[in-house]
Amino acid sequence: MTQFLNKLKQDILNKIKDANNLKTIDEIYRAYLGRKGELTKVLRSIKDMPEKERIKTGKLANQVKKEIEEVINAKKSKLQTISSQLPDKEQIDVTIPGLKVPRGHLHPITLVQREVEEIFQSMGFSILDGPEVETAHYHFDALNIPKDHPARDVWDTFWLKDFDLLLRAQTSPMQVRYMEKNNPPLRIIVPGRCFRRDATDSTHDFQFHQFEGLMVGEDISTANFKAIVEEFFKRFFSSSDIQTRLRPSYFPFVEPGFEVDVKRKGNDWLEIMGAGMVHPNVFKAVGYNLKDWQGFAFGAGIERLAMIKYQIDDIRLFFNSDLRFLKQF
Ligand code: PHE
Repeated sequence: MTQFLNKLKQDILNKIKDANNLKTIDEIYRAYLGRKGELTKVLRSIKDMPEKERIKTGKLANQVKKEIEEVINAKKSKLQTISSQLPDKEQIDVTIPGLKVPRGHLHPITLVQREVEEIFQSMGFSILDGPEVETAHYHFDALNIPKDHPARDVWDTFWLKDFDLLLRAQTSPMQVRYMEKNNPPLRIIVPGRCFRRDATDSTHDFQFHQFEGLMVGEDISTANFKAIVEEFFKRFFSSSDIQTRLRPSYFPFVEPGFEVDVKRKGNDWLEIMGAGMVHPNVFKAVGYNLKDWQGFAFGAGIERLAMIKYQIDDIRLFFNSDLRFLKQF
């Protein structure tokens, strides 16, 4: 009996060792320690053995049972930890396509800005960039707005340092920066972000985009200006039925100055940009000889053009990153 028990023990231990899943372990348990298990049978038969045999076999059989139970429990918890770390089905299908990152598109303001750039580029204008942080010199003094001139109030804005550095409220300072370094004849467009201390409502925001235009030559006139903006509006609104009109207005850096209105077929007149003939004091500030040159300048809001073109009634939609709005472009 001793030999049989030792052999049985060895068989069971080998099987446990080979088992590689919980199901097999349960089967082993049932086969040997279950109600009709082989070891259970031995344990049950002990009570009928002669006394000497009973003591010896009883002791051994119980030892074997205890040892097997311990080994089974250890193996079970080992298999449990392994299986909890494995995915349900360990399968990798290398032909399944990867997760697609949704592709965005350009912001409506960028789209309109690029369209403006393209139209003017085709008419010989160069596109330039300017600093968003300006000095009071370029933003005011060189634009014929001396200190204490009431016109400073119009652009009184976000000062950064001692009334000398500010977030630009208009792109006009780039007229000066460009003319300082370049001689006429010249044609430029300067798109860019501007900032104003405006209260925010459906047509105003503290940030917006403008594009500045400047054309200087020996005999550039208001007639040239009118022809060029009219051509621009026709192309921008994709319509030949466009009328423009100039109304007198005041900007310190132009003389005369005007407000440009546009009328599209079936619509009312809309005020779209400020403009004028470059003021002699601006030419003086950049060192041009007044007798040699004349030209026009203009500035228009990109949001405003986008709002008219796409019939958008609230400027704040451009900046609040609502995908339902942005996806329409
Ligand atoms: N800079 C002016 C504004 O922001 C617009 C303008 C530009 C007017 C150029 C005349 C000439 O209001």
